[in-house]
Amino acid sequence: MAEYNECYELVIGLVKEAGVLIKDRIFTQKDVEQKSCDIDLVTLTDQEVEKLLIDGISSKFPDHRFIGEEATASGTKVELTDSPTWIIDPVDGTMNFVHGFPHSSISIALYDKKIAQIGIVYNPVLEQLFTARKGLGAFLNGNPIHVSNQKELGKALLMVEWGTSRDPEKMKVFMENMTILNPLIHGTRTLGSAALNMCMVASGGADINFEFGIHAWDIAAGNIIVREAGGVCIDPSGGPLDLMSRRVLCASTSELAEKVANLLIQLHPERD
Ligand code: IPD
Repeated sequence: MAEYNECYELVIGLVKEAGVLIKDRIFTQKDVEQKSCDIDLVTLTDQEVEKLLIDGISSKFPDHRFIGEEATASGTKVELTDSPTWIIDPVDGTMNFVHGFPHSSISIALYDKKIAQIGIVYNPVLEQLFTARKGLGAFLNGNPIHVSNQKELGKALLMVEWGTSRDPEKMKVFMENMTILNPLIHGTRTLGSAALNMCMVASGGADINFEFGIHAWDIAAGNIIVREAGGVCIDPSGGPLDLMSRRVLCASTSELAEKVANLLIQLHPERD
């Protein structure tokens, strides 16, 4: 669709504009509100960034639909149809943003007929712009990126997160999986932004990322960026990724993804 070029140009401009809000405010005091629990946070900046993106896209493409983290938190239903749909996390890594830990990103993706066409993850503080378009590769600040091609578990670096819930079952499964994986891998890292974790796999800095309990907006852009960088993005039990399942496993190679999928204790959170 020739329209994807226009969509891409438009959204790059909007993301850069919105990034200024994050960059200008990350080291200032914020008013913070809680959503589902005391570690699931929202700030005015999350809401303003989401509005800026939705207003900007709607003015040019009035028929396009949206799944936005903050609109959903205010009660808007999550529904992915065949229509062109933008899936938005305005500040992925809100906890980082609140603390001034410089790993927060805007994550936005365009899905058409439920297939990812555009993915953008932008950390304006560190000036990291990860982009991908279906069939056209993945890039960091305009330079092509590629996964590490690592196949061996013993040499793999894993990106993980505790997530933004204190659900006891979820924490138990997380601990069990760490106990299983830690002795087998090179190391673990945590950036505090699911989208940036995925981009680390896409750009070869890490080799595996999995999480139970993430939402569609956390992984929608990372999904296409990892795939276009040559990696795999699947369900943690080994099947195809289901964007609404709140489960993700991505890896540099299918061999590595399969090894991890076979080891993981599984969790099936309530769907988006
Ligand atoms: C969260 C971050 C975090 C991940 C959580 C997400 P938010 O997104 O990506 O790293 O562990 O699952 O919900 O709330 O900062 O947009």
